[in-house]
Amino acid sequence: MMISTQLLDATSTHDIAIAKEILRRGGLVAIPTETVYGLAANAMNPIAVKSIFAAKGRPSDHPLIVHIAGADKLVDWAREIPPVAYRLAAHFWPGPLTMLLRKCPHVPAEVTAGLDTIGLRVPANPVLLALLKDLEFGVAAPSANPYKRLSPTCAAQVFAQMSGRIDAVLDGGDCEVGLESTIVDLTGRQLRILRAGPITAAQIAQCTGMPVSQPAQHDVAVPGNVREHYRPQTPLYMGTREQIVEAIEMKGARIACLFYATAPTTPGTAKTLVMPKEKALFAQRLYKTLYSLDGLGLDAIWLEFPPNGEQWRDVNDRLGRAAAIL
Ligand code: TXA
Ligand code: MG
Repeated sequence: MMISTQLLDATSTHDIAIAKEILRRGGLVAIPTETVYGLAANAMNPIAVKSIFAAKGRPSDHPLIVHIAGADKLVDWAREIPPVAYRLAAHFWPGPLTMLLRKCPHVPAEVTAGLDTIGLRVPANPVLLALLKDLEFGVAAPSANPYKRLSPTCAAQVFAQMSGRIDAVLDGGDCEVGLESTIVDLTGRQLRILRAGPITAAQIAQCTGMPVSQPAQHDVAVPGNVREHYRPQTPLYMGTREQIVEAIEMKGARIACLFYATAPTTPGTAKTLVMPKEKALFAQRLYKTLYSLDGLGLDAIWLEFPPNGEQWRDVNDRLGRAAAIL
């Protein structure tokens, strides 16, 4: 069923009131967070939560993250909360860290896909935080993209992909971080990172004084940890500078190229861009750049390998899923 999707302005108190009203009546609002845009619904309303899955075309066995106003709300959602959760919260919240904890029995099974655990996060976007403080409930929100597509980092991208399927998009500008949150599992005997993100294992280890394991991403048997997540529709290839120059020589007019830090002098391509050298800026631009190149209808997008260190792990994880070959 097609519905008309309102574009709301996060700087307008009138529009914020509309967003709240939609969420209170069980509707769907795409919200800005510091990582990527989320598709939000009242997490205590199972029908509203179900409609998230329908709008995204997401299988119902993929659990959702619940966004809350502060660490004081943890007890409303989770039980057997270990002290380390509060330590991490004090250090990294509001921010791009999702904690997995044991869920409270009253949390609808639709949110957690029937699992006994729940993902919780306090987002750092000030407009969203103010909205969460006013609401009587937390909001379940996956990234606001159709299933398996790139996560949106601006309102226009959400609107282009989700218009007609959701009630509103709250435009809060470009996302500052640009990649999804780190997910850390606090339910086992050891802290375990289930999704690499902007907060690294080393930062978590330093904050907690505890060892942190980080299995290769695809080894973790978690619903939703799907290899071919985050894909543009145009095939994305990763390569060295030499491989990309070779690809340009063969097919320059039909490909777009993204170089790392500096551009070599090359024959022409349909589009050549240079990605920032610095990791935070690279991450901030990555999805938006891929999304805009995807819209050109070319044969391929080539991206030069970024660095490989610990700090770049989240970028390389997402690229490993987005790329046709790596
Ligand atoms: O930065 C983010 O985390 C963004 C913004 C909107 O907050 N959200 C996001 O949500 O990326 P989503 O649904 O696209 O990805 C959430 C991931 C999924 O891979 C899901 O399987 C995992 O979190 N997840 C959520 N709850 C879980 C649980 N109880 N156990 C295991 N994995 C869980
Ligand atoms: Mg997602």
